[in-house]
Amino acid sequence: MTNNNTNSNATNNGINRRQFLQSSLTMATVTGLGMSACTTTAFNRPLKNAQNTASNMNADKVKDNAHYPVIIIGTGYGSAVTALRLAEAGIPCLMLEMGLDWQLAKQQTGLKFSSMAWAEKQSTWLRTTTIAPFANYRKFKKFTGALDRIDFQHINVYAGRGVGGGSLVNGGMSVTPRKDYFAEIFPTLDTDLFYAKYFPLANAQLGVHSIPDDFYQSSKYYQFSRIGESEGVKAGYIPVKVPNVYDYDYMQAEQAGTVPKSALKDEVIYGNNYGKKDLTKTYLKQALATGKVTIVSLYKVEQLIENNGNIGNEEENYTDDTLYSLKVKQINTQGETIAIKTLHTDKLFLGAGSLGTTELLLKSHAKGTLTRLDSQVGKHWGNNGNVMATRSGIKSSLGRKQSSIPAVGLSKWTDDKQAIFVEVAPFPIGIDLRMALYLAINRVEKTGTIGYDTKDDKLTLDWDDRHNQQMVKNTERFLDEMNNANGGHDGSIFSHIDAQGKKHQGVNPKICYHPLGGCVLGKATDKFGRLNNYQGIYITDGSLIPASIGVNPYVTITALAEYCVENVLAEDFVG
Ligand code: FDA
Repeated sequence: MTNNNTNSNATNNGINRRQFLQSSLTMATVTGLGMSACTTTAFNRPLKNAQNTASNMNADKVKDNAHYPVIIIGTGYGSAVTALRLAEAGIPCLMLEMGLDWQLAKQQTGLKFSSMAWAEKQSTWLRTTTIAPFANYRKFKKFTGALDRIDFQHINVYAGRGVGGGSLVNGGMSVTPRKDYFAEIFPTLDTDLFYAKYFPLANAQLGVHSIPDDFYQSSKYYQFSRIGESEGVKAGYIPVKVPNVYDYDYMQAEQAGTVPKSALKDEVIYGNNYGKKDLTKTYLKQALATGKVTIVSLYKVEQLIENNGNIGNEEENYTDDTLYSLKVKQINTQGETIAIKTLHTDKLFLGAGSLGTTELLLKSHAKGTLTRLDSQVGKHWGNNGNVMATRSGIKSSLGRKQSSIPAVGLSKWTDDKQAIFVEVAPFPIGIDLRMALYLAINRVEKTGTIGYDTKDDKLTLDWDDRHNQQMVKNTERFLDEMNNANGGHDGSIFSHIDAQGKKHQGVNPKICYHPLGGCVLGKATDKFGRLNNYQGIYITDGSLIPASIGVNPYVTITALAEYCVENVLAEDFVG
C-alpha cells in the first residue's frame, strides 16, 4: 500500500515501524540522555551561531517518516508529567517542542535568559520588540525567545516557549485551589481523592514550599509584599502566603551576595537563570534520567492526520496500522523552516497548552485530516479571570529593591457576588515609584469559544467585553477598597476602554497569563483525558480545565495530568 501522507520513502530517510520497534530501546537510551548530557564540539560557541548548533543536533535525532510508539507534543506541565510516568513504566517517548532547549543552548553557546529591565532578543518569541504587559521599548533581532504572546482583538494570551514550557517564564506561584471551588469546577471528579493523592503528589514532585517567615519579615526585597499585605488587611481582605518553587535558600544566598542573583535581579518573565525549579529541574530531569525519553526542540507540530490504516511501504510489502501522522516543521532560531517532516504514532499526547492543543485539533479538523472531531473542542475557554491592576501614590515606601517572585495574595473568594483573589506583584525596576502592581483572579461568568478561520488560516477567539465585564467590576472594587482604606489612587500604566466607550483607570483585562480550557475534561474528552471519538489521542494540559480554577493554575494542571496518565497507563498500555 502506498503511503499517501508523505512523499518520502521510509527506508531512504528514516526508519520504518519494524526497525523502529527493534531499535527503540537502544535509541531512546542513547538520545534519552537529552540535552544536558550531550557533549558537543559547539560548546562555548558564540551566540550568533546558536541557530545552527541547536537545530543541527536535533536534525539527526528525528527522521522523516519514522514511527514512534508514543509522541508527546510540548514540554510544559501536562507533557512533563506524561513523559515521566510513561518512561517509569518502561515506555519510550518522543517529545516535540517548538521552542529552544535552553539548557542545550546554554551549554553550546553560553546563551542565558534575559533580565526584564534590559531585555535582549532571547526574551521574546520571534519579534523585534518585547511584548511585556508594559514598557516595551527594547528593539532586537528576531529570535526564538522565551516569552510569546498570542494576540486577539480583545485579549492577549501569554505563553512560555522552550523545553519546560510555561515553567520557564512563570512566577513559580504554586497554589492548590480551594477544595470547594475545585469540586464546583469538576463536579464529576472524586475531590477527596484529589486532595489526598494527586495534589500532594503534584506539590511534592514540583518541589513546592513556603517562604521562610523570618526571611519574608526581614528582607528588604519583600517590603512591597509586607506593605501590600497590611494594606489588604486594612481593606478587609484575607492575606494568603503563596507557596513557590523558587529555592528560598538560594534567594537568601542572593541577598547575602554569595551567589549570582536571579529573583533579586529582576529575572522572571523571560526566564530565571538561577534559583527557580522549573520543569527541567524536576519532572523533565527525572524523565530524561530514565533513558526512555527523547526531547527535540525547535520542532513545531503543524497538523495531525488520522490514517484509517492506510500507512505503509509498498517496496517492503507491508501495511501498517499506524493510527496518526504528524506534519512537523523544524525551524532555526530565527523561525525559518529548515525541514518539513512527517512522523507516525499510535499514541499521541497533546500538551501544547490551552491554545496550542486546541489550535492543533481545530486546524487539523478544518483541513480535513481529523474528520471526527467532537463539537466540544474549542468550548469552555477562559482567562482564569485575569485582570492586571495598579495603584499609584502608595503612602509607604515599597522599597527600591523588590524580589521578582511574589509571596502573598489577598483573598475575598468567599464573597458570593464578587469573589476575587489578588496577587501582590512586584515592580522590580530598581526605583521606588510608590506604585503597586496586582494580578487579580476572578470567576469566569461567561466562557469563550476558540475557532479556526480556514480563510485566513488562523485561530479565532470569541471573547470580548461581555466576557470581561464582571471581572473588571470586581477588580475596580478591589482598587477602590484599597484606595479608600490606605490612600493612593488608580495607577496610570493600565487603563481599559469598554464597549460603551467608558474608561476604567488602573485595570487591564486584556492581559492573560492563565489561558484555560478548549478541550475540557469530561466534555471534549472522557474522564481520563482521552479525546472523544479518537482512540489513542490524549489531552494532558491546561485545556482540560474549563475557563477558571480560582488560583494560579499549574499545580492543578499537574495534578490532573498525574490522574489522567495514571489511569490511561493502567487501561491503555496493558502488556
Ligand atoms: P505550557 O504552556 O506550560 O506548555 C506547552 C508547551 O508546548 C510549550 O513549551 C510550547 O512551546 C509547546 N508547544 C505549543 N504548541 C506546540 C506545537 N504546535 N508544537 C510543538 N510544541 C508546541 N501559573 C501558575 O500556576 N503560577 C504562576 O506563577 C504563573 N505565572 C505565569 C507568568 C507568566 C508570564 C505566564 C505566561 C504564565 C504564568 N502562569 C503561572 C501560567 C502557567 O505557566 C501555565 O498555566 C502553564 O504553563 C500551562 O501548562 P500547560 O501544560 O498547559 O502548557
